[in-house]
Amino acid sequence: MQDKFCPDTLVNAHIKALEIYETGKPIEETAREMGIDPESIIKLASNENPLGPSPKAVEAMKAAVGRAHLYPDGGGYYLRKGIADKCGLAIENIVLGNGSNEIIELLGHAFLHPGAEVVVAEHAFVVYKLMAQLFGASCVEVPDPGFRHDLPAMLRAITPRTRLVMVANPNNPTGTLVSAEEIDAFVRNLPPHVIAVFDEAYYEFVAQPADCLQYVKEGKAVVVMRTFSKSQGLAGLRVGYGMMPASIARWLHSSRQPFNVNAVAQAGALASLQDGEHQKKTALTVADGRRFLESAFQEMGLEFVPSNANFILVKVGSGRELFKKLLAKGVIVRAMDAYKLPAWVRVTVGTRPQNERLIAEMRATNCKL
Ligand SMILES: Cc1ncc(COP(=O)(O)O)c(C=O)c1O
Repeated sequence: MQDKFCPDTLVNAHIKALEIYETGKPIEETAREMGIDPESIIKLASNENPLGPSPKAVEAMKAAVGRAHLYPDGGGYYLRKGIADKCGLAIENIVLGNGSNEIIELLGHAFLHPGAEVVVAEHAFVVYKLMAQLFGASCVEVPDPGFRHDLPAMLRAITPRTRLVMVANPNNPTGTLVSAEEIDAFVRNLPPHVIAVFDEAYYEFVAQPADCLQYVKEGKAVVVMRTFSKSQGLAGLRVGYGMMPASIARWLHSSRQPFNVNAVAQAGALASLQDGEHQKKTALTVADGRRFLESAFQEMGLEFVPSNANFILVKVGSGRELFKKLLAKGVIVRAMDAYKLPAWVRVTVGTRPQNERLIAEMRATNCKL
């Protein structure tokens, strides 16, 4: 007789050890659990665009829905061309992903294996670590004093086994930046067996961003990732992209599924890319909201990390407790236990009314240390 089938004994060890990524709590789930009207809930937990998508993107998506019986353009020609033209690159330099998270995964498929190493900052975007684990690679975490990536220390952490060095600029959840000068010294000193990945998910919120695309244009072993999920307001579509020398891009194309970005997403993203007005409005809303929240935190005597993105990391005593208290009031923020920061929450910058409500609810919970 066959023994009872037991997947737990068969699953790969590195998958067994994998922690599950905790997403921002969805509005619908919160409404169900708390018994409150979803319309009254505000979500400031996943760094989404509080203005929503560009109206031009919505129109383009509506038109694309009528052609949903056809497979998408697997090569994503028009969207890749749109990105390439905007960034001064060639279409061969662009790889589209089902969110920029998929670009991280494709880098793993192409370049990681058991025994390989990925160098990250201690408080870097947690998905880097999860993706490294997914491929049986190990993640080398480098201390980040003041929550800033220490690029010279990250260079020193490179070994012959290192394949990827991940630099989130600005980083999530800290909102901190590394300067153009620091990046330049870092790239110039990279050994030839390592790819530097600059994750610019929040690029559009930075007042004077460093130009990392110059290294791609020079053919250096550099990948720059951006996304339509943040300032473009299309997180639900799942579109991100990587920009890199064609010699790297070909291996990511080999690693991806043939239709990894769907047709509606391609149409929406392309229209959004061309809507400069919406992007300008978003940047102004975020800059204004960031000032409002940071000065409110200052008044409340709360420590926070000055941010270059559309979110702020703020120290509140117990992040998990505050998360629960705010949830009961219909305000969703993000506790930071997964980043080993149990005293902190990360709040997304919302519209002025959303920011005012967040601050009013935080004051009401008396969350001061
Ligand atoms: C730094 C950073 N990189 C990448 C991502 C992934 O974004 P997406 O997969 O939605 O493009 C996020 C999302 O929060 C992020 O904060």
